[in-house]
Amino acid sequence: MADEQTVYLNGQFLPITEAKVSVLDRGFIYGDGVYEVVPVYGRRPFRMAQHLKRLQYSLDGIRLANPHTDAHWRQSINELIERQPFADQAVYLQVTRGPAKRDHAFPKGVAPTVFMMSNPLVLPAREQVERGVAVVTAQDNRWLRCDLKTTSLLGNVLMRQLAVDRDAVETVMFRDGHLTEASASNVLIVHDGVIVAPPKDNLILPGITYDATLEIADRAGVPLDVRAVTHAEAMGADEMWLSSSTKEVLAITTVDGRAFAGGRPGPVFRRVYEAFQQAKADAK
Ligand SMILES: Cc1ncc(COP(=O)(O)O)c(C=O)c1O
Repeated sequence: MADEQTVYLNGQFLPITEAKVSVLDRGFIYGDGVYEVVPVYGRRPFRMAQHLKRLQYSLDGIRLANPHTDAHWRQSINELIERQPFADQAVYLQVTRGPAKRDHAFPKGVAPTVFMMSNPLVLPAREQVERGVAVVTAQDNRWLRCDLKTTSLLGNVLMRQLAVDRDAVETVMFRDGHLTEASASNVLIVHDGVIVAPPKDNLILPGITYDATLEIADRAGVPLDVRAVTHAEAMGADEMWLSSSTKEVLAITTVDGRAFAGGRPGPVFRRVYEAFQQAKADAK
């Protein structure tokens, strides 16, 4: 098929139907791998350096050597982007510990599996930006290394499905009475005009969009506070937002089926959203 998607597997670009990995791959057997999702606007990756830095952090965290230099990653990612027929993309890349006889302990002398694909970047609909989105809440029952972007995502998968089951876009999680993050997004709140963000510890993914949002808000003159957020504070916040590479920033206007924060995106959100769009345009 002429329009079949081109993906990357272990150094080769090939049609997706021809990309095959072993059933013994540790990514398949154990979820033993890490990944990244890089948004691409007009064929230009957004915050590439930060994504490569986090990839290295995740690889270090699972004790897997980085198979490529940053220059090599950039070159292969750019080539993958060029091979797609659309300009705005979401590049997905993953590195697993490779195929080996099943045994929990790390195999010796096995090459990692490197896979990349790029799909059209589907940003939130205009209506979601203007009206905000619905979330549900749950206790965070994931492991204690949520700072690593691993392909073992069952906890996040179950949390996200909880949201879908209730016609919501995300599940916002709390651990020991404190806000952590959502199943595939970070969560920020606004209290008295100040953006309050949970600290980037082991309980949340250090989001690239979280950092971008805080930097952009800071430049726009919005005060910031990075500290633990209690359940009561989150539920009583003036505004609550989601941030992620594919959602950018989105206001939460329904929580557990009830209107939240007046049921409309707040003034701080609108200001930061506009500044975010400008930062994107400037980065092009
Ligand atoms: C659990 C989780 N938290 C936060 C994020 C947001 O990270 P980023 O802004 O780097 O996309 C994601 C992204 O998919 C995620 O899966």
